[in-house]
Amino acid sequence: MNIQEIVSLFSGPNGENKAREYLESNNVLPLILQESQQIEGRISPDLRDLARLHATIRARKIFTILEFGIGYSTIVMAKALKKNQEDWDELEKKPLVRKSTPFEVHCVDASTKWIDVTLNGIPPDCKHIVKTHETKVNSGLFSGRSCHFYNQIPNVIPDFIYLDAPHPNHVRKRDGKNSKWSKNKDRVIMSGDLLRMEPVLLPGACILVDGRTANARFLKHFFYRNWSFIRDENGDVTAMELQEKPLGDINKSTLKYTLGKRITEWVKE
Ligand SMILES: C[S@@+](CC[C@H](N)C(=O)[O-])C[C@H]1O[C@@H](n2cnc3c(N)ncnc32)[C@H](O)[C@@H]1O
Repeated sequence: MNIQEIVSLFSGPNGENKAREYLESNNVLPLILQESQQIEGRISPDLRDLARLHATIRARKIFTILEFGIGYSTIVMAKALKKNQEDWDELEKKPLVRKSTPFEVHCVDASTKWIDVTLNGIPPDCKHIVKTHETKVNSGLFSGRSCHFYNQIPNVIPDFIYLDAPHPNHVRKRDGKNSKWSKNKDRVIMSGDLLRMEPVLLPGACILVDGRTANARFLKHFFYRNWSFIRDENGDVTAMELQEKPLGDINKSTLKYTLGKRITEWVKE
């Protein structure tokens, strides 16, 4: 399945039912429904988003995830990574890969409350997979353009990034006071973190932006490497794939394992 096919898997009129069935068949649905109990200010899960995430991580045999915005998604992605690990452990002959943080999801978030709430809902068999990083997010500039950055980004080289935060209310100025984002609800969110990270991402890296269309366009404008961009209007999601020649043998062997024949679509052997 190429990235276009995965992204639109749960789009369309029957998408919600398909997503429900998919999550049920992967034993994730009960966890999500149990998690969506009443907590003040809690938003309900979007099953299509969650099924898309799980399917993407499974189809691309993802090793390391960087997530901006903890929540139901964290639980779903941890479950998908656990399956990836089981598949990997079963391989008699393992391909050459270099992964310092295999089968980990690193979640960046500015809210103690939502980190705590989510961690409480992580099933025991996935606790070791989830690493949280609580950090403030400040308004700033990228190339003179207005955006915002988290103060600390974990030291990982992810093969999958999920951009679903911050909440506008979480964006502060460096002095800790409310930023323009917190003061004006009309202001669209504009994360610049991935622009700083782009140089160290490896060919094959994949980014999913949930909603945040203006932010996805901002990234598209400033990214300098060879990304493919897929916008699924129906699901309100943008997917990006770093389609570059492998850097060397290890990167090539990793891509062959994770993407299989797919890489021949954009990698000239
Ligand atoms: C769009 S939410 C992130 C949702 C998460 N990625 C998911 O799919 O469940 C953005 C921010 O809201 C907070 N948050 C997380 N789960 C929430 C929930 N169920 N209801 C309200 N806010 C939530 C977190 O601080 C997060 O950074």
